[in-house]
Amino acid sequence: MEEKKVKQNAPYILDLEAGQHLWCACGQSTTDPICDLKTHKTLGFAPKRFELTEKKKVALCGCKQTKNPPYCDGTHAKL
Ligand code: FES
Repeated sequence: MEEKKVKQNAPYILDLEAGQHLWCACGQSTTDPICDLKTHKTLGFAPKRFELTEKKKVALCGCKQTKNPPYCDGTHAKL
C-alpha cells in the first residue's frame, strides 16, 4: 500500500446534493475529493462512502489525514 498523498493542505468546500457520495481516500483521484472509481484500485485504498439526507455545504478533507473521514477535522493545520 502506498502512502496517502497530501493533495491539498486545506479542505474542499463543496455544495453536494442529497444522496450517496464517495470521498477519495488515496489523494490521487482525478476528481478529488470525490472518488473517480478507478485510481485507488492500484494503490490499496478504499474510498469512504457517505450519505447526505439533504443538499448541504460540506468541508471534505483534502489532506487525507483527517481522523473523521470524509470531513475536515483540522488535522491539516498541523502538517
Ligand atoms: S483538510 Fe484534511 S483535516 Fe482539514
